[in-house]
Amino acid sequence: MNYRISDKFVSLKPSAIREIFKSLGTPGSISFAAGNPNPDSFPVADMRRFADEIFSSDPVTALQYGITEGYTPLRKLVADRLKRVYNIGAPDDDLIIVTGGQQGIELTCKVMCNEGDTVVCENPSFIGALNAFRSLGANLRGVPLTDRGIDPEKLEEVLKSDPKVKFLYTIPTFQNPAGITADFETRKAVLALAEKYDILILEDNPYGDLRFSGEDVPTYKSMDRDGRVIYCGSFSKVLSSGMRIGFLCANRDILSKIVVAKQVEDVHTNVFFQMVCAKYLSECDLEAHIAGIRNMYRHKAGLMISALEENMPASVSFTRPEGGIFLWCSLPEGKSLDEFVKRAGEKNVFVVPGTAFTADPAEPSRSFRLNYSMPTDEEIVRGIKILADIARDMGCE
Ligand SMILES: Cc1ncc(COP(=O)(O)O)c(C=O)c1O
Repeated sequence: MNYRISDKFVSLKPSAIREIFKSLGTPGSISFAAGNPNPDSFPVADMRRFADEIFSSDPVTALQYGITEGYTPLRKLVADRLKRVYNIGAPDDDLIIVTGGQQGIELTCKVMCNEGDTVVCENPSFIGALNAFRSLGANLRGVPLTDRGIDPEKLEEVLKSDPKVKFLYTIPTFQNPAGITADFETRKAVLALAEKYDILILEDNPYGDLRFSGEDVPTYKSMDRDGRVIYCGSFSKVLSSGMRIGFLCANRDILSKIVVAKQVEDVHTNVFFQMVCAKYLSECDLEAHIAGIRNMYRHKAGLMISALEENMPASVSFTRPEGGIFLWCSLPEGKSLDEFVKRAGEKNVFVVPGTAFTADPAEPSRSFRLNYSMPTDEEIVRGIKILADIARDMGCE
């Protein structure tokens, strides 16, 4: 049969990262391509205990349909933590539990954008979000990142020229893929522009808890004066990614529509895991657990940065993240990213080419993303040496 795939989906390609996963598994291969949290960050023993307790004491709640907004005790615990840690939560705000931050991003676009509306994003940006926006018929406009976050001047050029912009999608802290954090000045400038041009900001912050150096910067949501920031968070990088628990905090008027959209999509987020998550938040010390993850990633990022400093030719630049799980390397002008990625793959070292993250898929890139949360220490050192040899071999000085 000739399947007539919808216009929206016919041109969408599978994530380059998922494709790279298919090449993994060769013994001795090293993957810097993942976006996964390190499995040592999963609190397995606590989860097993909570699962037992839930099925002994309250199996019906766990196994029955739940309410779309989320398991009430979890909503309250998440709202309390957001207030305590991030000063987020205005009187007009509400909070909904979603099936991973990914769903929060998609639902926001679904509720706010008509087909043909524009979503502005950092260029490069998170492929999962970009594909969600594309699948909903939004136009994407990428704004370059500087080492201080999204470039406000370039952002204003887009906002001036395009009256169809509905919102800015931004990952201001430990950005995926670049590992960059927007500084306070940038955030003030961007928020002022959002006010001037009357657009919303979708602030995606799945890595915000994972700072291992430098100073915290206030979230957009905590600086929001008039309900224009929609905040998306997730437990994927601090408790478990397979649990699929994220949350949106936004003005009630927006959230009430998001509830309807979620009802259509999946009725509610898995109740059992919401209960496990609630037990974890109320009975364990999440902040101490996060401190342990920060220590692990501080060590791994430090190791990768040292290996890059010691081995990479000076013309290959890279970001020095203060948290999160990625850094971003760029080849010098005139060097082919395709050739670099191909040669690395031949040596069983896998990186994600920058072309996987561009707002315009046809846009060329000289950059690639490196993940340090998953590889072992030995793999980080060995893998970076292999990449450095390839760069030198290609004439990078
Ligand atoms: C920037 C960003 N946002 C959102 C997500 C989605 O996370 P989840 O759906 O697991 O909460 C990810 C996952 O890697 C991400 O990198």
